[in-house]
Amino acid sequence: MHTKSNPDAYGTNLQPALEAVNTHVDGEPEMALILGSGLGALAEAASDTTVVEGREIPGYPASTVEGHEGRLIFGTLEGRRVVFVQGRVHLYEGYAVQKLTMPVRLVHALGAERMVVTNSAGGINRTFQPGTLMFITGHLNVAFASPGVGAGVAPWHRANAEAPEQDGDYYDAGWTDRAEQAALDLGVDVRRGVYAWMLGPNYETPAEVRALERMGADAVGMSTVPEVLQARMLGMQVVGLSTITNPAAGLASGELDHDDVLDVGQRVRGDLMDLVRRIVRVAEG
Ligand code: HPA
Repeated sequence: MHTKSNPDAYGTNLQPALEAVNTHVDGEPEMALILGSGLGALAEAASDTTVVEGREIPGYPASTVEGHEGRLIFGTLEGRRVVFVQGRVHLYEGYAVQKLTMPVRLVHALGAERMVVTNSAGGINRTFQPGTLMFITGHLNVAFASPGVGAGVAPWHRANAEAPEQDGDYYDAGWTDRAEQAALDLGVDVRRGVYAWMLGPNYETPAEVRALERMGADAVGMSTVPEVLQARMLGMQVVGLSTITNPAAGLASGELDHDDVLDVGQRVRGDLMDLVRRIVRVAEG
């Protein structure tokens, strides 16, 4: 896509980070898996793993939230060389959006051409129960931020001829279809939907959730869209998967807290791990 060749286009020099990673591992990852809150354990599915801590990588964003420690885990999954990005950072932690997508630029520079992005999200679609797994087929950028700002990226849109209702420019339609079929084969129930990215760190107000519902969102969360924008600007292919951990605020009684979100993530971990393996397996059509 239309990026400058200047490695500092997004405000980072990746060279020291690449050198730091290369002192720990050799072997280029084909694919990156971005792990959402409570989903960090998915990396346990990989074999022959090497961990590189974020703090050993110059310019790597340090997470300020418990349960989100930043590290890269290199390994093999379903016969493919993968890298897990464990412990993402969020815009609400106060980082510039270019800084929080630095891990995506780094894994791309290391060789990853594909990305599976996972998250935990609140359910807006009223048929979604906690534990529902949702393939992301489109998003609403309601945080109004992009890592492309100031990076010399020209505006773009490419329609998806086969699935015009799906935002194929962001979420790869063929790969998502194959992944959905793989979920069916596994007997894992999956849905499709639109993910709305909100700034946070507060959960949404009921008024916001009503507005998002009218705007067409099925789920809401505080991540993923910046990584997806960054990945697409680099030409990576993307599949997105949300775990619905709770009804969004105002759609059910009771309080919403981060620990409950993490608990549901734990509960669906088995299904999610099986599904992620299949997603990796069906990356190529
Ligand atoms: N809102 C925003 N982010 C979330 C939610 C939610 O309800 N659940 C998990 N992440």
